[in-house]
Amino acid sequence: MESEILEVLPLHNYPEFLKETCDLINDEWPRGETARMMSLQASRDNLPTSFILVKDRKQVLGHCKLTAIPSIPESCFIETVVISKALRGKKLGTYLMRHIENYSKNVLQLKMLHLSTKGQEEFYAKLNYEICAPVSIYGGYLPANSKLRPSSHTIENSVPERTSVATNGAPPPPPLPPTNETAWNNNNNNIKTSKTYMFKYL
Ligand SMILES: CC(C)(COP(=O)(O)OP(=O)(O)OC[C@H]1O[C@@H](n2cnc3c(N)ncnc32)[C@H](O)[C@@H]1OP(=O)(O)O)[C@@H](O)C(=O)NCCC(=O)NCCS
Repeated sequence: MESEILEVLPLHNYPEFLKETCDLINDEWPRGETARMMSLQASRDNLPTSFILVKDRKQVLGHCKLTAIPSIPESCFIETVVISKALRGKKLGTYLMRHIENYSKNVLQLKMLHLSTKGQEEFYAKLNYEICAPVSIYGGYLPANSKLRPSSHTIENSVPERTSVATNGAPPPPPLPPTNETAWNNNNNNIKTSKTYMFKYL
């Protein structure tokens, strides 16, 4: 009987999978190949780190990226989580996320993880992520009415940032309850107007 070997590998150690990973991500979020490749080639052990889910060391099935949040050193941002379109609904996303959580806890010694999403809240909720206040890639939680924006790095493959400002190393407050803008609601068909930020203690 044939068995498949699934592995989660740091992309920078397997450059032979760069192009396939680029195509997989661009199939979901189209972007110029040069820019996408440059972003993937930035992967390194010390963050940002791109991870690929690979079958039998032959086929890339998924990707996600961990990015530092400088003013919340005990956390990281998970970005660009994607499973190949044909293979969704087979728990591969769960497998990838669990691996990244273990890596974040045991190798990076992190205490929590953050992410933002628009539309995949239920997937993350099933992995025990909870809604929290918006967080900037520079760290800190953001005032809901802030008009300021970060000046450089933006979170990839997210909807446009509406409220962003760094808080200069202030410790993160406890997560806030969902607001009308960030909550998703399984009981009605509200149109989501902004991203939902979520976090999880590891
Ligand atoms: C989101 C994504 C990574 C999930 O991967 P996946 O392999 O299909 O997910 P899994 O099979 O592990 O699903 C785990 C559980 O979440 C549920 N789930 C997954 N996606 C869901 C969605 N969009 N809405 C509701 N539930 C969802 C599954 O039904 C499953 O539930 P169960 O445990 O009760 O059976 C994948 O759908 C994807 O690549 N989407 C497009 C890219 C994207 O939007 N990424 C997220 C960016 S924030």
